[in-house]
Amino acid sequence: MLKNFNNEFFTLLIENFNKIITDFPLKKAIFKDLEEKYPGFAQECNDYCVRCIYDYITKPLNKNISLSISYTALKEALNVVDQYDKFYSYLLTILAEHNLLSIKNDILNFKWLTFDISTQKKLLYLKDKYRIFKGTIGLLEHCLEAYPKIFSGELPGISVLYPNGNTNFLDDKLSEDTAEYSEMPIIKKLTAKLIADYSQTNHLKILEIGGGRGLITRELLSVVNKINIEYHFTDISRRFILNMEKYVNDKHLNFVKCFKYDITKSSAEQNILLNHYDLVIGLDVVHVAPDIDFALKNLQQLLNQNGILCLLETTKTQYWQNLIMGVTTGWWQFKDQLRSHSPLLSTKNWKKALKKSGFNLINLMTLENKNSDATIIFSK
Ligand SMILES: C[S@@+](CC[C@H](N)C(=O)[O-])C[C@H]1O[C@@H](n2cnc3c(N)ncnc32)[C@H](O)[C@@H]1O
Repeated sequence: MLKNFNNEFFTLLIENFNKIITDFPLKKAIFKDLEEKYPGFAQECNDYCVRCIYDYITKPLNKNISLSISYTALKEALNVVDQYDKFYSYLLTILAEHNLLSIKNDILNFKWLTFDISTQKKLLYLKDKYRIFKGTIGLLEHCLEAYPKIFSGELPGISVLYPNGNTNFLDDKLSEDTAEYSEMPIIKKLTAKLIADYSQTNHLKILEIGGGRGLITRELLSVVNKINIEYHFTDISRRFILNMEKYVNDKHLNFVKCFKYDITKSSAEQNILLNHYDLVIGLDVVHVAPDIDFALKNLQQLLNQNGILCLLETTKTQYWQNLIMGVTTGWWQFKDQLRSHSPLLSTKNWKKALKKSGFNLINLMTLENKNSDATIIFSK
């Protein structure tokens, strides 16, 4: 018999998570962490990032004159526009973490380094050794090459990742990778399975926020019981909404509606139903909000009495991810106290943020390995 959404859902999701994870195919493989799966890659790719940052940041310095310069003078010498202040600081922080720079009272003191092989040769070595990450390494190279023009504002960073305003370049590049360094695809599959299982016997009114290219949408829509679902796909971008509309029309998924919803604006002032949804779901979306607390409170207004917020969030990053995603100014728009060098929140900070915004039951689930980088958050 079909049941309406009820309070059991939360408990069931948590209980079923453990069961599903036990039954999940390739369990052994998915429980390995990045280092076990691809030994050396993270370390070598991050080392390469440090080296490129060093090359870029120290370019204006003349070692015969001085290796000290003020934060502002270097920013001017590199032509960094204010929008990239946080990115510029992030690069300096990485150099400081690697003892290539010390910072005292706004004065930067660099260590002078010479490398045994050129940065270009190091790149060729990386590409050759880790062909399984060809796309990611190529994307990193593509972004780093554009840094002088991006930081000076000459080239909009967004056009570097999305040339001609579409996602084809990014999609093509990433599809060149034959390996996965993130656990998000696994977390995504697990979440879709949990919700799909529940939808077999229960009605669910689902709102997806920041649906973008539809990574979780397509997974979910292919496994849920279509008769029991009302699915609202939203994003801030018209292009993503139109793409998803076309997808659902082509697939005759008439229980799906696509419209605009902005997580950074008051829900009450937007064309959306309040206190309505059983489930609000978002994959790597809420961290884009400048103020997480405000965004979470907006989302809370959309949930009905038993409604659950389900966030799939990347909770750990490698340098190369920030160096790639950081080219867009949107990556650096965070303004709250929870974050300093990356828009992403750790699991600890997600807990803090949810508690502060009035969520009472909070469950964070990651795969059991010491370097888990993706988390499912269920909260109500
Ligand atoms: C990192 S992507 C998330 C990936 C997306 N869930 C997918 O499956 O492709 C972030 C998404 O959030 C959307 N976004 C950015 N700012 C937003 C806002 N203020 N409100 C709602 N969505 C937003 C972007 O358009 C993008 O689709």
